[in-house]
Amino acid sequence: MTAASRAEGRLAWLEAAGFNTNLLPPESVEIDLLSDSWFERATRSTRSARQAAPGGDAAPDLPGRLAAIYGFPYNLPVARGRFAEALLAQALFRPGQWVASNTLFPTTRFHIAARGATWQDLSMALVRGLEDPHPFKGDLDLDALRPLLANGDVQAVYLELCSNGAGGQPISLANLRDVQSLTEAAGIPLILDGTRAWENAALIREREPGQQGRPLEQVLHDVCACATACAASLGKDYVTPVGAFVGTRAADLHHQLQDLAVLAYGHVLSSWEMAKISEALAIDHDGGSGAATRTSLAQRLHRALRAVGVPVVQPAGGHGVFVDAGAFLPHLPAEQHPIAALCNALYLAGGPRAGANPGLPSGDARVEPPLLRLAIPIGTTTREADAMLDRTVAAFQQIAADPGQVKGLRLRSRAPGLLGALSSRFEPI
Ligand code: F0G
Repeated sequence: MTAASRAEGRLAWLEAAGFNTNLLPPESVEIDLLSDSWFERATRSTRSARQAAPGGDAAPDLPGRLAAIYGFPYNLPVARGRFAEALLAQALFRPGQWVASNTLFPTTRFHIAARGATWQDLSMALVRGLEDPHPFKGDLDLDALRPLLANGDVQAVYLELCSNGAGGQPISLANLRDVQSLTEAAGIPLILDGTRAWENAALIREREPGQQGRPLEQVLHDVCACATACAASLGKDYVTPVGAFVGTRAADLHHQLQDLAVLAYGHVLSSWEMAKISEALAIDHDGGSGAATRTSLAQRLHRALRAVGVPVVQPAGGHGVFVDAGAFLPHLPAEQHPIAALCNALYLAGGPRAGANPGLPSGDARVEPPLLRLAIPIGTTTREADAMLDRTVAAFQQIAADPGQVKGLRLRSRAPGLLGALSSRFEPI
């Protein structure tokens, strides 16, 4: 097949998908950087189908293995991160009071709001902006936190490690320890979203004074030691399409969560699922396809995209690279859907399928900047990584030569609900 006929084929796929790369069928996507979540990728990847092949023996001690890795004495394994968050939110949050946080994932915010509580984003990423290369923009703004705590209006602090909404920016150990002493003094819990805890640990080791050369698992333990509890989706740091957990330090909270999961929702993992998750936990995060490699791949892609003039969030995130679509395509106003348009252009140029960074519409561009996310999955082999990087950079380079050529999109239909936006259909203008 010639390059021209391949490009024609991609255009036909896009037309059939209503010019929304989210809706491209698996067989049309060669490189997929839409999500690093092995749950989302499972339906699209022959590799994950192999991973999920039945097998495995008796259910291993999954809670015990989670305790060994993350250091929380009590661990409740569940299927998905958002369910872990729902359980924690129901057990801990009361209506009317604040939850102070850095930029949280939309599912986490949803559960806080569903409890009638309100999250307040005190991320340093908001203070510093997209272009500041500060190494720890996931940090919490302590000067903003102190007066809120003094007023007694805050019922918990919730921090996402390698905060996706802020462009994958990590939190420093120093900031975590400061927050811990403030929350302890105020008598409120400090909760972590530990979904990308390993990348956060890798970036602490790389960027924070005094942390160089330490074993990654020790850094991870130090991070988790700051928290009262943790909810984490496992499919981003391990090659598994199922799995999440809630880690806690108090037996009574653990039993309350377990009762909620089983009595209220009838949720239990099968022994097969437990076995698959346990198997996936054995990944060596310091090895070739683990978290340390993923952070350096993100940095390589970040450098290469900057070199060809693509405006990327500074610095590289732990699990990917985030492109400021508005700055890259200034000729496209928001009504012409610059992120979706850039996703189309990338795909047509033979690059990856990418997507908008997951977010909830907040109406505040400071909280929700329009970012395209290039999410690098864990478990990538060197060959896959090289091909993915080369093709992604080549496609961006082609677009960067004349960004004005990228056409805007007109909305043709949008399904109802918060999720409706994900399956909108468009036509080129
Ligand atoms: N927390 C974070 C930081 C996440 O990125 C996700 C999911 C969740 C919680 C929810 O976990 O999917 O197991 O229910 N992130 C996916 C992504 C969807 O593409 O970033 P889940």
